[in-house]
Amino acid sequence: KSNEHQSLLDAHAFAANFYSHLLLNTVEGEKALHYLENRGFTREHIEKYGIGWSLEDRETLTQLLQRKKFDMKEMEKAGLIIMKQDGTGYFDRFRGRIMFPLHDDNGNVVGFSGRRLSDSKEEAKYLNSPETPIFEKSRLLYNFHQARLNVRKSGKVILFEGFMDTIAAERAGILNSVAVMGTSLSETHLLKLKRIANQLIICCDGDDAGWEAAKRFANLSIQKGLDTQIALLPGKMDPDEYIATFGGDAFVNKVIGNPYSYMSFIIAYAKRSKNLSHENDVLQYIHEVLEELAPKLSPIEKDLMIRQLSAETGVSAEALHEQLTKRLGKMA
Ligand code: UTP
Ligand code: MN
Ligand code: MN
Ligand code: MN
Ligand code: MN
Repeated sequence: KSNEHQSLLDAHAFAANFYSHLLLNTVEGEKALHYLENRGFTREHIEKYGIGWSLEDRETLTQLLQRKKFDMKEMEKAGLIIMKQDGTGYFDRFRGRIMFPLHDDNGNVVGFSGRRLSDSKEEAKYLNSPETPIFEKSRLLYNFHQARLNVRKSGKVILFEGFMDTIAAERAGILNSVAVMGTSLSETHLLKLKRIANQLIICCDGDDAGWEAAKRFANLSIQKGLDTQIALLPGKMDPDEYIATFGGDAFVNKVIGNPYSYMSFIIAYAKRSKNLSHENDVLQYIHEVLEELAPKLSPIEKDLMIRQLSAETGVSAEALHEQLTKRLGKMA
């Protein structure tokens, strides 16, 4: 490893320690600590995930890094500090945020995601480290280093779109989950998971963005040959909100323990925006389901799908078969 590489890692380890100290041991960190407690975080989990707090002050970390003789150019590259507009010095990237360290596969801190405390819509809810020589968003999966062993043991991994959901899931006793940093899942992510698991359960937020993400994730995951299922949440809840509302047992048994097959998910997805007592919606619904599923299903699954569609819409199984054959003919 190059010197610079090591120095970026050292600086992140140092910053993570400092942020953690501020959260746990200082008056300045109390508000954030209460916020976390209100969201159900225990001391144990705060420590396990290395969560911290960055001061409102603009230069605390900058000055500390300087005093520790870190190279300021490198620290800028690390994404920890930002150069002032007039070029006369640097200031801290993260200020007044709850700090979630992001770890690489070996457990080194390589970046941060900082959550704002307030509900103000003026600043982004989460501020993330930029891409750096040690942090690649398309590679990093939150909690991968801690989940890896449990994933290997069970052969199963649960994927969330927010790292808050991974931490909440641990409260429900789920130790084999990881999260992407937002709504993009890469091929690299999946290949990484495929090396340690054969089964993937995708559990995205219940809002529109979450449903869309789940569909994208599922398509990619199937394409990469993982046995893929999708766990769905009622309403627009996300996993963290579900666990806070209904408890961990309900989450484990009803949501994660009862996931949808890809086929059932696509049917639920298409049905979501439709009123099946309207003829137009029925046609659109059948069209969408056939379009999406026809090329992907085995003969038995096709038969099941047609029976389900027929029962739901009142369209005869023969007509659906005919439509399906036509559709497949067109694609061949
Ligand atoms: P969510 O908005 O679903 O976050 O975004 P969340 O996990 O539910 O957070 P809480 O519960 O409101 O605190 C999911 C993920 O998208 C990325 C983050 O990685 C987050 O975990 N994100 C979201 C950002 O990077 N920036 C944002 O402003 C919002
Ligand atoms: Mn200290
Ligand atoms: Mn979301
Ligand atoms: Mn969410
Ligand atoms: Mn949430």
